[in-house]
Amino acid sequence: MADIPVITVDGPSGAGKGTLSHMLADTLGWHFLDSGALYRVTGHACLVEGVSWDDHPGVTEVARHLQVSFHTAPSGEILVSYKGRDVSREIRTEEGGRGASTVAAIPSVREALLARQREFCQAPGLVADGRDMGTVVFPSAPLKIFLTASALERAERRYKQLIAKGENVSLPRLLEDIQERDERDSSRDVAPLLPAEDAIVIDSTAASIEDVFAQVMQKVKERGFVAA
Ligand code: DC
Repeated sequence: MADIPVITVDGPSGAGKGTLSHMLADTLGWHFLDSGALYRVTGHACLVEGVSWDDHPGVTEVARHLQVSFHTAPSGEILVSYKGRDVSREIRTEEGGRGASTVAAIPSVREALLARQREFCQAPGLVADGRDMGTVVFPSAPLKIFLTASALERAERRYKQLIAKGENVSLPRLLEDIQERDERDSSRDVAPLLPAEDAIVIDSTAASIEDVFAQVMQKVKERGFVAA
């Protein structure tokens, strides 16, 4: 694992981490870890198995034995399965986000998912998307990005995405959800959402994803991961 380059992309929900990480992984031809999906599937699996999100030992067992798999659809979309059943849509609902954030605050659950996340680190390289990729999971990654944006901007982006999908949502409610989730993710004792000391912090509030990508690719070239 030591010689395989890793780019970590951490930050709050809706800052554009997923889009940026996909663009980087596609451009570089590297593997991609969506660590949030592991927490989302854990929350979902608890519902399927009848385990309450408050039952810490129960949730930890679910996380330890999580039968999750990722595969790429012909469209390029990454599909997530639990026990062989496609759950990509279900885990991306607002309830899926709440479940993930709740189970992610349990230290033994984070511990149970650690080795599984590190298994994604394979040649020729890995782009790892999450909250603690640069601080806990891949602390020696040679390039760490912390991507952020104001809560209002993130709520507005989410609102537009959901409206485009035909969902009936309220912007104030989404903003409240984002603020609550930020608070829960930042104030938990274990692996709180914080930039690594050596992370490059990028604020995407007023920047397009193309601008952010260009900034990061500049760093990728400076680090020698691809020819300048
Ligand atoms: O990135 P996402 O929105 O899919 O993440 C869902 C939740 O999982 C989010 O509230 C925080 C949590 N999470 C985490 O605690 N650590 C990670 N590495 C990734 C996600």
